[in-house]
Amino acid sequence: MDNSESKNDKTIPRVKEIVEDMVDAISGVFDKHNVTFDEYRAGFFHVIKTGQANELGLLMDMLLCQRVCDIEMKGRKGTRSNVEGPYFFPDAPLVTDAAKVRGDVEPLQIQATVKDLDGNPIPDVDVDLWWADPEGKYSGYSDDFPLEYFRCKVKTDKNGQYSILGSMPVEYPITTARHGPTGALVDMLGRQGMRTENMHQKYNKEGYLPLTTQAYFRGAKFIDEDPVTAVFEDLIYDLKEEDGIPVLDINIVLDHD
Ligand code: BEZ
Repeated sequence: MDNSESKNDKTIPRVKEIVEDMVDAISGVFDKHNVTFDEYRAGFFHVIKTGQANELGLLMDMLLCQRVCDIEMKGRKGTRSNVEGPYFFPDAPLVTDAAKVRGDVEPLQIQATVKDLDGNPIPDVDVDLWWADPEGKYSGYSDDFPLEYFRCKVKTDKNGQYSILGSMPVEYPITTARHGPTGALVDMLGRQGMRTENMHQKYNKEGYLPLTTQAYFRGAKFIDEDPVTAVFEDLIYDLKEEDGIPVLDINIVLDHD
């Protein structure tokens, strides 16, 4: 029986089409490289180990998430959509002037102007910001490092702007389990395992397409060797300086929905 033709009342045509095309695409790769049964089994067990280590999300974000962002950009003209990564939490505190930070931080003024495609400022945009602490860690993963640190929500003012005192993010390993399955894959792919410092952002406002993106810092360590292949020139910023404090001044353009 040809299973591709069988149907039941639970069939979801888009899932069926995409999964069957994925199987065809992977089969094509197997065929191209004459993959052996031992190689298939090694890959199979690597995926199982990745699941057991709770790293499947990380693996998919590392290999595939930016490709989906790139597809999103086929229908957009505004700021580039960029990988969300595994460290977003929806419940960060709303702040007006400064985010909560701790430790030996270097201050960073994070400011942005949010406009539409015609250059009009967009007020009342809900913004999420999150970034790595001076040790390259994200908050919210343990009781002694709650998510009120190094992440916040802000709203744009009537000029489509926000300005928040935060801290300079630092580079961080995409997996701290250096010898875990994702770390091992990073090694086997000949990549290095550090993400360059970045400022994660999300923008939401009714009437506009939601945007998840990142800002990168010109000249930062690892910027030319991103293991996630998600650094783009149009997302790289030169820092300014005001009153002795570095300023990240971000330009955001939202597409209408
Ligand atoms: C990040 O942006 O932090 C990230 C993205 C993909 C995989 C791992 C980390």
